Amino acid sequence: RSGDLVVHNAVQIQVAETFDVPADSILWRKDFLLGVATAAYQIEGAAREDGRLPSIWDTFSATPGKVLHGDTGAIACDHYHRWRDDVELIASLNVDAYRLSIAWPRVMDAAGRPNGKGIAFYRDLLRALSDKGIRTSVTLYHWDLPQHLEDAGGWLNRDTAYRFADYADLMSRELAGLVDYWSTLNEPWCSAMHGYGTGHHAPGHASVIEANRALHHLLLGHGLALAALRRNDPASRKGIVLNVGRGTTDGASAADRRAAELFELQHNDWILDPLLKGSYPAALYEELWPGAQPPVREGDLAIIGAPLDFIGINYYFRTNVRADGNGGYVEVPLEGVERTQMGWEVYPEGLAHLLIAFRDQYPNLPPVYITENGMACDDEVCGGEVVDGQRIAFLNRHLAAVDRAARAGVDVRGYFIWSLMDNFEWAFGYERRFGIVHVDYATQRRTPKRSARLVRDFLAQRKERP
Ligand code: NOJ
Repeated sequence: RSGDLVVHNAVQIQVAETFDVPADSILWRKDFLLGVATAAYQIEGAAREDGRLPSIWDTFSATPGKVLHGDTGAIACDHYHRWRDDVELIASLNVDAYRLSIAWPRVMDAAGRPNGKGIAFYRDLLRALSDKGIRTSVTLYHWDLPQHLEDAGGWLNRDTAYRFADYADLMSRELAGLVDYWSTLNEPWCSAMHGYGTGHHAPGHASVIEANRALHHLLLGHGLALAALRRNDPASRKGIVLNVGRGTTDGASAADRRAAELFELQHNDWILDPLLKGSYPAALYEELWPGAQPPVREGDLAIIGAPLDFIGINYYFRTNVRADGNGGYVEVPLEGVERTQMGWEVYPEGLAHLLIAFRDQYPNLPPVYITENGMACDDEVCGGEVVDGQRIAFLNRHLAAVDRAARAGVDVRGYFIWSLMDNFEWAFGYERRFGIVHVDYATQRRTPKRSARLVRDFLAQRKERP
């Protein structure tokens, strides 16, 4: 039953068997987009076909010790070959929209010339989706930088921002009219911080100075790309997708409270401020990262701060921190809280809290789409079924949080589940299963989990409504 508590590893987890959508929920509105999301490197495979060039994730995942079990995206869900069936699968879920990303190394060669075969793949895919009445949300950069650009300095090189704008220009000329929502970047925080600050992601550097440099070039690329998208595909809506973090403290001191603020400053304001306020947050460089200021040139912040049609928010968990005694913060995991297969705390309140906080903090906050939310479970197929009760409860609770934020006046217009299907979860490879559709990697068989069936049934019911 919905809301039942189950004890798992001495912690209570919530499970549900049904979707609980109150009669007056925003989710019933037919103009509230409900969708599913994926990204190119995580599902496509076919890493060497039809002229696709290597990306930094091919290099990184082939480096021993970087990805759990040595997994790579070389085959992934084989979506590049199975996309027709996958479009049928998406349509069978009755979703309003599908969020995907384009692999930059598939569509342009090292001299910047178009790769017709790669472009045709996306054009056919987008046409098939729109033939089914499915709205398309396309991200240009979901972390798979062409390796030849990395060899020239990657995001540490300002020139990469201009190469990204060239790529955005080409894509929006080739695909104009087929895309409803363009996003320039997915989670630039992760590209900058995990790619250059912690080294957990490609290209695997570990320097906070580099993370700031990379972020600035990513955001500059975003602003330049946005202008190209506006020029070439005026009817579409354009935005950017950000991961946001809720930071709280169980500590009692003023320093602990400041630590939680610094956590959010670092995760959220670091990126939202230049996009929506036209400056990087000074406190970050005074307190946390002295001397790590990004290399801003005259005019950059005006390009970065160009108006957006929407902002995509990816939300997953809350982090508990305390003061580290050095003016910074340190994560102190809470005990006894419900966690996902990633070890992330299930904390739906954080989503409502952040949406409302952003609305208050940024008067020019554009309409919001939740472009990712979901959880990893160690799902297995038993008797042809996958009963993912914890995920169903997770979705119920997060959708309720979105509804609460909407009632509080946040202009939130859609919600995409991460993910359509199990896929390559970056440094964690194939072990972590985020899909509402199960993938058996040995056979590539797709099995909709119970959550997927509930999405399908809910949306069928919504269609029936007057
Ligand atoms: C963030 C990323 O955009 C996506 O690629 C990833 O798989 C999910 N969140 C889960 O970690």
